[in-house]
Amino acid sequence: MNIILLGPPGAGKGTQAQRLVDTRGMVQLSTGDMLRAAVKAGTPVGLKAKAVMEAGELVSDAIVSALIGEHLDASQDRGAIFDGFPRTKHQAAALEMLLGEKGRTLDHVIELEVDEEALVERITGRFSCANCGVGYHDRFKLPKVEKTCDVCGAHEFKRRPDDNEQTVRTRMAEYRAKTAPILPYYEERGLVRRVDGMASVEEVARQIDAILDGLPARAVRL
Ligand code: AP5
Repeated sequence: MNIILLGPPGAGKGTQAQRLVDTRGMVQLSTGDMLRAAVKAGTPVGLKAKAVMEAGELVSDAIVSALIGEHLDASQDRGAIFDGFPRTKHQAAALEMLLGEKGRTLDHVIELEVDEEALVERITGRFSCANCGVGYHDRFKLPKVEKTCDVCGAHEFKRRPDDNEQTVRTRMAEYRAKTAPILPYYEERGLVRRVDGMASVEEVARQIDAILDGLPARAVRL
C-alpha cells in the first residue's frame, strides 16, 4: 500500500507516519527529513536547500522529485508513506510517473484537516532529542524526567531553525498557494480521504487505521 499524508506544517504528518512505520512496517519517505539530512551533510543539494528552507519556501521540484526517486525502491515491499511530498502539481505528476515506472499505484491520499492557528503553537513548541531524534513538545509532550530523553537518556535537545512563528506563517502560505491546489487532482481520481487532524494523536491514528483497513466510509471521515 502506498499513501500520501497531506496537510499544512504541523498537521501531524510526521507523527502519524512514524506510527505507521512502527505499527505496520511501512517506509516513511519524508522530503523534509531528506533535505535536513542533506543540509547537515553539506551536500550540493543541502547547500542549495538551506536558505530556502529557513525562509519557509519550497525547494525546487526537480530537487525533491529526484530525492524521492532515489529513495523509492526502499519501500517496494513494505509500502510507502509520502510525508511532505508531493507539494506542487508538478511533484504530483512526477510521483505518478515514478510509481508508474515501478508498476506501483497510489492507494490513498489522507488529508489531515486542521485549524492553522492552533498549528503555530504546535510547531513553535516542538523540539527533539539531539541524540536519537525522538520528538517532544513544550506543552503536549515533555520528557518524563526534566531535560532527559525518555528513550535514550541524552540531555541535549534541538529545535528546527524553521520552527519560528514568522517562518511557520510563510510555510502555511506556501501550503495554501501551492500544495492545497493538488487536492482536486486526487479528488478526481477518488483517492482523497479526510481525518480530523485536531483530534488527539491516538484518535487521528485510529481514523487513519480505519482508512487503511478499508472500513466502511461512515467509520472514517470522507
Ligand atoms: P517538512 O519537514 O515536510 O515540514 P512541514 O510540512 O512544514 O511539516 P512539519 O514537519 O513541520 O509538520 P508535520 O505535519 O510533520 O507535524 P508533526 O507530526 O511534526 O518541510 C520542511 C521544509 O522543507 C519546507 O518548508 C520546504 O522548505 C522543504 N520541503 C520539504 N518537502 C518539500 C517538497 N516536497 N517540496 C519543496 N520543498 C520541500 O507535528 C507537529 C507538532 O505537533 C509535534 O510537536 C507533534 O508532537 C504535535 N502533534 C502532532 N499531532 C498532534 C495532535 N493530533 N495533537 C496535538 N499535538 C500533535
